Amino acid sequence: TKRLLSGIKPSGDLNIGGYIGALRQYVQMQNEGECYFFVPDLHAITVPQDPKELRERSRQIAAFYIAAGVDPVKNAIFMQSHVSAHAELGWIMETQAHFGELSRMTQFKDKSDGKDTVSSALFTYPALMASDILLYQTTHVPVGDDQKQHLELTRDLATRFNNRFGEVFTVPEPIIQDVGARVMGLDDPSSKMSKSNPNKSSYVLLLDEPSVIRKKFSRAVTDSDMSVRYDWDAKPAVSNLIEIFSVFGDLSIADVEKRFEGQGYGAFKKELAEVVVAKLEPIQQRYNEIIHSEELDNILKDGARRAAETADKTLRAAKEAMGLLVF
Ligand code: TYM
Repeated sequence: TKRLLSGIKPSGDLNIGGYIGALRQYVQMQNEGECYFFVPDLHAITVPQDPKELRERSRQIAAFYIAAGVDPVKNAIFMQSHVSAHAELGWIMETQAHFGELSRMTQFKDKSDGKDTVSSALFTYPALMASDILLYQTTHVPVGDDQKQHLELTRDLATRFNNRFGEVFTVPEPIIQDVGARVMGLDDPSSKMSKSNPNKSSYVLLLDEPSVIRKKFSRAVTDSDMSVRYDWDAKPAVSNLIEIFSVFGDLSIADVEKRFEGQGYGAFKKELAEVVVAKLEPIQQRYNEIIHSEELDNILKDGARRAAETADKTLRAAKEAMGLLVF
C-alpha cells in the first residue's frame, strides 16, 4: 500500500504556486493510501522568522490543508515540531549526508547567495527533510519541481543507510505533475512564483481578495505575439498562464488554447482571473471558519499523536541498527 507524506513551509503567505504544485495533489491523492501532511515549521526557522508571524503562519498552512479539502479524519495533519522524532532522525541523517553533496544543493546555493551570514541549519536542511520523509516509510512524496533534488538526496541517504546498517528505510518516489510542477512569477517567467519575491504582483496568494486577484492577472506580463498558444520556449509567460488556467479551470492545455483561439490576451487574462477567483472563494470561506477554531488545535494534536506512533517506530529501528543503545 502507498504511504504519502508532504508539507508546505510556513515561511511566507501561501501562493497559488504551492497550491498548484503541492496542495492540490494532496487533495487528489489522499485516498490512495495512508497520508501524512505536516507543516515543516522546523524548516521555516532555518532563516530568521518573527515569532508571532511564524505561529500564525503555521496555523494558516494547516488550515489551508483542511480548507482545500484534505480530510483530517482520514489523514494525519500535524506540526513538524510536535513530533520530536523529526529533529532526532534529522541529526542521524546529518551523520550520513556528505558535506560535498549538501554543498551541491541548488536551493542552498540560491538562498545563501549574496548573504553575509546564513544559519548552519540552512545548509543541513536537506538531511532534516530526508528524516521527515523516511520516518513514515513513505513511498510517494507529492511535490513541485523545485524539490526534485532534495528528493534525490533523500533516496541516496536512505539507500546508503540501508546498505550500511540493514533495511530500515523505504526508498521514496517523488510525485511531480506534468502541468503545474513549476509555476513561474507573473512578472517574470524565468523565475519561480515565490512568496519571498518582494514584488507582490508577481504572485497570487490563496488569501487574496477577488479584486486583488483580478488586478494581478491584468498586470501579468505576456508577449507581443498576441496568440494564446502553449510553447515554453517561445512563449514562457503565456504558457505559464495557460498552465494556471488549465489547473483552476479544469481544462486540458489543448482546450485552453482552443477556447481562446483568435482572441487576444485581454479576454484570456480576464477569464483566467475569474476561474482562479471561483476556485479560491470556497477555500477562503472554509479557511475563515477554521483558522481560529479549537477544532484546528484538536486536529493538530490528534495528528501529532498519530504521526508520532509511526515515526517513533522508525526512529527506534534506525537507532538500533546503528548501534545506539536501545532498551
Ligand atoms: P516549500 O514550502 O517551498 O513549497 C511547498 C510545496 O509547494 C511547491 N511549490 C511550487 N510548485 C510549483 N510552482 C511553484 N512556484 C511552487 N512553489 C512551491 C514545492 O515544490 C513544495 O512541494 N523543503 C520543502 C518543504 C518540506 C517537504 C518535506 C516537502 C520539508 N520537508 C518533506 C515534502 C516532504 C519546501 O521548502 O517546500
